Amino acid sequence: MEPAAFSVTDLDAIERHYRAHGFALIRGLYSEDVLQRVEADCVGAQSDVVAGALPPRYGSTAFLDDESKAAAFANYVEYVNELSPAVLAAVTEPALVALLRRLLGADCWLNDAHRFGVVYQDARPGRESGYSRIGWHADWQAAPNLAIWPSTAFTLHIDATSPANGFLRVVPGSHLWATPAPRNVPLPEASRPFGGHTSSPAPFPMPLGFEKIPGEVAVYCERGDLLLHDAYLWHSAARASDDDTTRRHIRGGYFTGDKAADGSREVFVKNAAR
Ligand SMILES: [Fe+2]
Repeated sequence: MEPAAFSVTDLDAIERHYRAHGFALIRGLYSEDVLQRVEADCVGAQSDVVAGALPPRYGSTAFLDDESKAAAFANYVEYVNELSPAVLAAVTEPALVALLRRLLGADCWLNDAHRFGVVYQDARPGRESGYSRIGWHADWQAAPNLAIWPSTAFTLHIDATSPANGFLRVVPGSHLWATPAPRNVPLPEASRPFGGHTSSPAPFPMPLGFEKIPGEVAVYCERGDLLLHDAYLWHSAARASDDDTTRRHIRGGYFTGDKAADGSREVFVKNAAR
């Protein structure tokens, strides 16, 4: 596979890689100054969630594996786009928006108001943490009833990733498969049975956990890297092997369809693919 890290202005190469493999890494988009402001805002908001200084909207326990940890530590700050002008500016950076319009169409929109908005995620592995990994899934499986797909997820890395602090695993090309909706949880009404860029069935079932998949690759990121991945792409996150580390990032997505109708039938399929 060709290298997956690109300058945001390298539109042809990014699009070619993204359409073929379902993801692309954008490098060099943010200055260290910007990253420090983003990091300071997010760490501050995280402290505010633990201290109870923010409304529950910003510190839900929806994603936690172990909700008992939420009293002493916050793995998440939801809707961080409302709390940090630096985060909002970073995820609406004009060069990034131009790229996303090329990938999704001119009418694509940032999810800033539903399904937790832009989220600051701290997936550290230590004992205080209630979330450190996630099994195989495609993001569209969390809302198969909504007409907001295709979509592109972004992850802005505050910490570089590695086997020591955890990393993303992806199956290149899996965004092209017609992936079944989750099989292990009740689905919202009007859910689509399959999601993907073609009607070709997946060559094997999506594992429910962390099993090795033929063709999967690790996507290691540097501080400041912005990972784009298709919402139909199969991916999972491996837990850190060193407990004394952090893996922090900002994540969110750009969507298609009618933004004004978004949220009207909102149902979050928690742990849909695990
Ligand atoms: Fe995901």
